[in-house]
This record gives sequence, C-alpha cells and structure tokens, in this order.
Amino acid sequence: MRLPLLPVLLVPFAAACSKESSAHADPNKPVHGLASIELVVSPDNPLTAAKAALGKQLFFDPRLSGSGKTACATCHLPERAFTDGRATSPKDNGSMNTRNAPSMFNVGYHERLYWDGRALGLEANVKAAWTAQNGAKPDEIAPKLAAVDAYAKAFQAAFGKGPDETTIVQALASFLRDLRDEDSAYDRFAAGDAAALSEQAQQGLALFRGRAGCVVCHTLPLFSDRLFHNVGIGSKAEKPDLGAAAKNALDDAGKTGAFKTPSLRNVAKTAPYFHDGSVATLAEAVQLMASGGIDNPHRDPLLKDKHLDATEVAQLVALLEALTGTTPFTPPTLPQ
Ligand code: HEC
Ligand code: HEC
Repeated sequence: MRLPLLPVLLVPFAAACSKESSAHADPNKPVHGLASIELVVSPDNPLTAAKAALGKQLFFDPRLSGSGKTACATCHLPERAFTDGRATSPKDNGSMNTRNAPSMFNVGYHERLYWDGRALGLEANVKAAWTAQNGAKPDEIAPKLAAVDAYAKAFQAAFGKGPDETTIVQALASFLRDLRDEDSAYDRFAAGDAAALSEQAQQGLALFRGRAGCVVCHTLPLFSDRLFHNVGIGSKAEKPDLGAAAKNALDDAGKTGAFKTPSLRNVAKTAPYFHDGSVATLAEAVQLMASGGIDNPHRDPLLKDKHLDATEVAQLVALLEALTGTTPFTPPTLPQ
C-alpha cells in the first residue's frame, strides 16, 4: 500500500532540491515578476476567482460604510496605484488618519500588514480597516448586502452562504490577494528585453543594487524586505509615532519609530511619500534615503549617507519610475 504515495512524496522532495540549488544564487538578481516569492494565503480562505471578483465589487461599494459614503476605494484609488494622493485623510467618522494610505498592489505577499505590522494576515487587516476606516458595523451591513439580489447570488456562488462578517472580509481579502502588479518596464528588462529600460534607469539599477545600498531593505523582487526599519521619518515631531514599537503593533521595544519597508513598485504614482506623507516628490524621497534618512537615536545602522551626486539621484529616480506596472485595471460595476 505504500506505492501509491510515491508520486505525492516526490513532489516536495523535488521542490526541496530546487530550493537548495537556488539558495546559492543571488536572491537580489533581477527576475521578471513575483513568482520567486510566495503569496501568503490564509488556510481557511483559499483564493478563488469568484471570491476575488465579489471582493472587487465590495472594495468599491460605499454601502459597506457607516455613512453609506465611504468605500475602500475612497482612500485606495486605482489610478494612484490604490493610494489617495493626500498626506493623511479623514475616516468615515470624520476623524483624521495619522498615517499615509499605502498601495494595495501586491499586499498578498505581506505576512504583517499596516505600516507598524499590527495586523497578522490580510483578513485581520481588512476586518480592522472595514470597521475603523469605513465606520462599518458588520451586523448592520451584512443584511443590507443580502437584500441586493446580485450580491446574495454572488455570495452563494463564492461561499455557499450569504453575506456575513466573515464572508465579506474573506471576499475583500481575496480581491486584494489577487491584486498583483508585476509587469513593469523593469520586469521586462529583467526577463531579457534590454531595450525596456533606458540607459539612465539601468545605471539606477546598478546603483540601487550596488553603492547606494537600497536593495538591502528594498529587496527584489518586491522591492521590500517586508521588515521594519527606523529611517527617522517623523522622529523630530513633538510626539513621534512609535511605529512597530507601539503596544498595539508588533510591540517590539527594539523597533522604536520603525515602519514596514514599502514596496517601491508603482512608487511614481503614490506621492506624497513615507508613513506620514511628509515628502511631496519622488526625487526628494530618494535624496533623503540616499543621504541616510533622518538622524535619531534609533536610526537603522544600515542607513548611511551614500554621497550621491544629482546625476546619480536622477538615475535612481529613473529606475523607480520604471517600476510602474502596466496591467490594466477596470473598476467594477456595482449591483443595484
Ligand atoms: C479613510 C481612508 C481609508 C479607507 C476608507 C480605507 N483605508 Fe486602507 N488604509 C488607510 C490608511 C491610512 C492605511 C495605513 C494605516 C496604518 O498603517 O496604520 C491603510 C492601510 C491598509 C492596508 C495595509 C497595507 C499594507 O501594505 O500594510 C490594507 C490591506 C488596507 N488598508 C485595505 C483597506 C480595505 C480593504 C478597506 C475597506 C474595507 C480600506 N483599506 C479602507 C486608509 C484607508
Ligand atoms: C534600512 C533599510 C532601508 C534602506 C537601506 C533604504 N530604505 Fe527606502 N525605506 C525604508 C523604510 C523603512 C521606508 C519607510 C519609512 C517611513 O515611512 O517611516 C522607506 C521608504 C522609502 C521611500 C518612500 C516610499 C513610499 O511609498 O512612501 C522611497 C522612495 C525609498 N525608501 C527609496 C529608497 C532608496 C532609493 C534607497 C537607497 C538610496 C533606500 N530607500 C534605502 C527602508 C530602507
């Protein structure tokens, strides 16, 4: 009775072998797309096309909010790579956010969500965002969605049951997990199309991986190590944001003022920059990072002034501009 198991056993064995040989390869060698890293999928919410399509509608639907006016897409606009162009923005209840709205592209690759890592997994993040940002009371909103015929049918098809707190959260998380963007000029260059990147951007890539040291934290292929570093942003404020060291976050006392390394994919579309939206342009953001961030007692020792000249900063900017995805996005039609 052992024989039938063999093919099953061989698969992980082969996978282990290929992992071992690639362990010697340079992990920061440019490759096309994100296939070299794994999506983080919650075991009780397997990703399906039906859930993702339903979640796409929910993401754009203001009926999911307390006031009936705020959709997730109010702060995460597709034309801005799912950011909102503001330093910080008001929540559905009128209170102000203290942090900048990040991009939604490729969030499925992060185990820890939010700038300070306080949400473990997309489902936890979405549940928190839905209640806090959109001012939603799940128990009041689920029956409203169930009364919309097309939604009732779509929830049945995707989950075998109607809308409730869990299925709404799982559909939204599935949409975001499926929202990948990995076809930039840089990706085409990495796949072998030498003409896809300008000479200037190619010099930027060499600097990024070399002397400028950016790749140490903005690791390929996501351009983020998904870890938390203090680069000094906001450290001069009267009451600095503790970031990952805050009690409700990672709660890591060693991480005072540390924030998650943002992916730089689509960064040309996501101004203003940093967790507090304090820097208006990409050139200024690059200049600040290349000169070692902002000095403070908790600054990550990996950050140093790299003494780049204006030509080199422009080369880095040209590279980052080539990280803009080209996958077209069509907003959904909402059921009435
Ligand atoms: C009023 C503006 C606003 C609305 C509405 C909003 N968000 Fe956000 N979103 C933010 C801000 C600001 C952050 C960063 C907060 C932080 O890190 O502390 C964020 C962070 C996130 C993140 C974390 C991304 C990462 O890289 O860690 C996800 C995922 C997310 N939002 C999804 C949603 C979903 C789903 C909805 C709708 C249910 C939603 N958001 C509604 C402003 C908003
Ligand atoms: C020590 C790790 C580290 C290094 C090295 C590093 N960064 Fe960053 N970078 C971060 C973190 C963390 C943030 C977010 C900081 C915050 O908002 O508080 C960030 C933010 C950015 C942003 C703003 C992105 C956004 O969406 O707001 C840009 C642009 C950027 N870095 C570019 C670079 C460049 C170019 C280099 C090399 C010159 C570099 N970084 C080196 C960790 C690093």
